[in-house]
Amino acid sequence: MKVQPPRDQSCSLPDRAGYPRTRMRRIRSHAFSRALVCENRLGADDLVCPVFVTEGNGRRSPIASMPGVERLSIDFLLREVGIWMEAGIGAIALFPVVEPGLKTPDGSEAWNPKGLIPRAVRELKKHFPELGIIADVALDPYTIHGHDGVVDERGRVLNDETVALLIRQSLCLADTGVDVVAPSDMMDGRIGAIRAALEQACHPETQILAYAAKYASSFYGPFREAIGSARALGTSEKTTYQMDPANRDEAIREVSLDIAEGADYVMVKPALPYLDVIFAVKSRFHVPTFAYQVSGEYAVLQAAIERGWVPERESIEESLLCIKRAGADAILTYFAPRVAQWLR
Ligand code: PBG
Repeated sequence: MKVQPPRDQSCSLPDRAGYPRTRMRRIRSHAFSRALVCENRLGADDLVCPVFVTEGNGRRSPIASMPGVERLSIDFLLREVGIWMEAGIGAIALFPVVEPGLKTPDGSEAWNPKGLIPRAVRELKKHFPELGIIADVALDPYTIHGHDGVVDERGRVLNDETVALLIRQSLCLADTGVDVVAPSDMMDGRIGAIRAALEQACHPETQILAYAAKYASSFYGPFREAIGSARALGTSEKTTYQMDPANRDEAIREVSLDIAEGADYVMVKPALPYLDVIFAVKSRFHVPTFAYQVSGEYAVLQAAIERGWVPERESIEESLLCIKRAGADAILTYFAPRVAQWLR
């Protein structure tokens, strides 16, 4: 049925902006015009794939709380990375699953040049010289207590003592050939200290991705299961170094410090529940801003997908597109391989 406008309104528009002069649906009524005005697009080259590396050969083990994600031994990692790069992924972020026997109170395996991550990096660089390799800087995979730093007899995480160890870890990683060191520990002053140490050790080209605004989030559980730090951490929390989810101004201060100390990229983590923080950081500083869609965000979405409650591709791509729209230049996401294949 065609609706005729009332006669007296059909020729003379009311003298004001707005409806019916402006009809927002005019543009939306054709695919071509929807495409022309599209403000944000998702590409495989926006995505970084986090990976869990495990010891051994021919080993891949599922992670119960992250269906579809596996811990991979180095040989399997090489195979997978080849596929991902073919699909357009340019960078990965490495996290180690450290053998329990190698964990110590100070996490000294973190700067063993023959450790799991250095071995993985050397193999990856040999096979894929173009691949961007981001390596996490923090002690939690390596400590018996599961904290990101060293603790005193009362269980307090010590800042400056930890920074000294993070420097050793960063130099070990830079020597091995990683392109980006990514401190995820939230100690004060570590970006400046690591930058100075890298410069002094003739690694001026090694980039720093600062986990600048990292929240004490309940969405990290599956990650802790994946790297085997959950049990060690027990009921202990990371609230003395990670941020309160209630705060945004504090994120601005954290980010401004990390930029001043020499961060090349800053990151907000988690992503989807923190879009306002991503937006605030990007609009204020105009620096390369990353977001980490963390393990718990993956688990929540994947669980709903498996139950058929939300459509797989649409919900995943929407979640990532919205993180971009908020201001993220790049996104760390466990969905990266799947999305890259879809976007091919
Ligand atoms: C710790 C670290 C964590 C993650 C990345 N680095 C967990 C934590 O802070 O306990 C979480 C990533 C994820 O949940 O996907 N250095």
